[in-house]
Amino acid sequence: MQDAVMSREKLLRKLEPAGQQHLVRFWDELSPSEQARLGKQIAALDLDLFAQLKLQAGASTKSNESAGAHQAKWAAIAARALPPPAMKLDGSGVNFTKEEAIHCGEQALRANQVGMILVAGGLGTRLGCNEPKGMFPIGPLSGRPLFQVIIESLLAVRRRFGTPIPLYIMTSPATDDVTRAFLAKHNYFGLPAGDVRFFCQATMWAVDDRWEKILLSSKSELALAPDGHGGMLKAFENNGCLSDCEKRGLKYLFYGQIDNPLLQVCDPLLLGSHQLATSEMTTQVVRKRDPLEKVGVLAEVDGKVQVIEYSDLPEEHARQTLPDGSLKFWAGNLAVHVFDVALLKRATVSATALPFHIAHKKTPYINDLGEQIEPEKPNSFRFERFIFDLLAEANHALVVEADPAEAFAPVKNANSEKTDNPRLAKQAMMALHRRWLRTAGVKIGDDVPVEISPLFAGSPQELAAKVASGAIVREPTYYSPTGPVVRHPSPDS
Ligand code: UTP
Repeated sequence: MQDAVMSREKLLRKLEPAGQQHLVRFWDELSPSEQARLGKQIAALDLDLFAQLKLQAGASTKSNESAGAHQAKWAAIAARALPPPAMKLDGSGVNFTKEEAIHCGEQALRANQVGMILVAGGLGTRLGCNEPKGMFPIGPLSGRPLFQVIIESLLAVRRRFGTPIPLYIMTSPATDDVTRAFLAKHNYFGLPAGDVRFFCQATMWAVDDRWEKILLSSKSELALAPDGHGGMLKAFENNGCLSDCEKRGLKYLFYGQIDNPLLQVCDPLLLGSHQLATSEMTTQVVRKRDPLEKVGVLAEVDGKVQVIEYSDLPEEHARQTLPDGSLKFWAGNLAVHVFDVALLKRATVSATALPFHIAHKKTPYINDLGEQIEPEKPNSFRFERFIFDLLAEANHALVVEADPAEAFAPVKNANSEKTDNPRLAKQAMMALHRRWLRTAGVKIGDDVPVEISPLFAGSPQELAAKVASGAIVREPTYYSPTGPVVRHPSPDS
């Protein structure tokens, strides 16, 4: 009891100068373990950062800054922005060919210079699954979870090039235990355990939108959330992953998100273009389908490549075209990157590397009376770092265009939403695999469900070596690692 009283006093001494004493308001109602948990969270609170962000917010959050000033700032940026340096789908735009880039990427893979970062710390709120998103069954016929789909792609690349590409998986406090247990239970879907390393990102608190009180999610917990995919940078170093890369002699890191089952894992074209352009950070993009599509765009601003979020790009600029009639802001961000290991190393010591973005969001909280409040409209500010802000630190950053039908099937929303949902992702997987079969000479109707594990074939060329040209596929077929089997799709495919 004495200890608890002491620690409450100690916590109050920390909280009072910042006006955050309410965080221990319910202290006496808490069990010793709850007190310990809350005490730990408060001890970890960086109140200098709180003060800094409050200042930053005073200068620039959308709710404080007048809407007019915000628009004018982004209109000026968009006006002086240029399309980014890019290799287009047809290979134009750079001074090397696609074949040269693929060859160079393959060499880096064979020379064991490549590792992979997979970010899987998000909460999957929009998808509405209660487990980490990586456990979501996405294989239209196999039911393979996202983790398996992506790890099998990695295994296929490892086998093709005879290289032990290590996998660094970012989790967050909300996903860490379950993710580790799930992957261990499944023997890392075939990856040697020694080549899998987890690193857990940090969290950030939420503050009410008058910037007065940091919010409690219960009487014994702050309302914490992962600090954004940009949290990767710090966590990667803090957890010893960066030094592990150096120990292994890695030069390049391929970065992808867990929620894209068509992720072109360690794509040699992307890796090789990165090297031939002496780029320190290369980003895969897809051409926007329409000018107002809700996707961040890559642009060059004042000599540096950056992402402009769709919500910041004024409509007249989003619609702007070049003299040849094409869109100026054509390059949609896929969140697939290649980093030089040296860039990550340099950026971890640069204080400016990744700023916090401030978002006005709904956060359920406990009020001063101890009542649980479920807000109906945004009531708080939350803070996230975005990994794409690292582009500004990178020399010779480059953009490489991909075909969305081959590279992108985002799993963001529940099937009740019209876009980026699991049903569409499954359809995209099946459509791509039907195309591969046709390229390999197989006849298949558009209504026949198929799915191909990359451990059976990872490209139309590999497929052609395994299936009979002229064969007809009439039944729903899963080309599993051990061969084709008849499988029926899940109801929502
Ligand atoms: P998103 O923000 O698009 O998806 O993250 P989410 O966080 O999974 O789902 P919502 O926003 O709550 O609905 C894109 C990718 O970045 C990872 C996610 O796991 C996903 O792979 N991510 C996002 C992190 O690893 N940490 C974060 O803090 C945020």
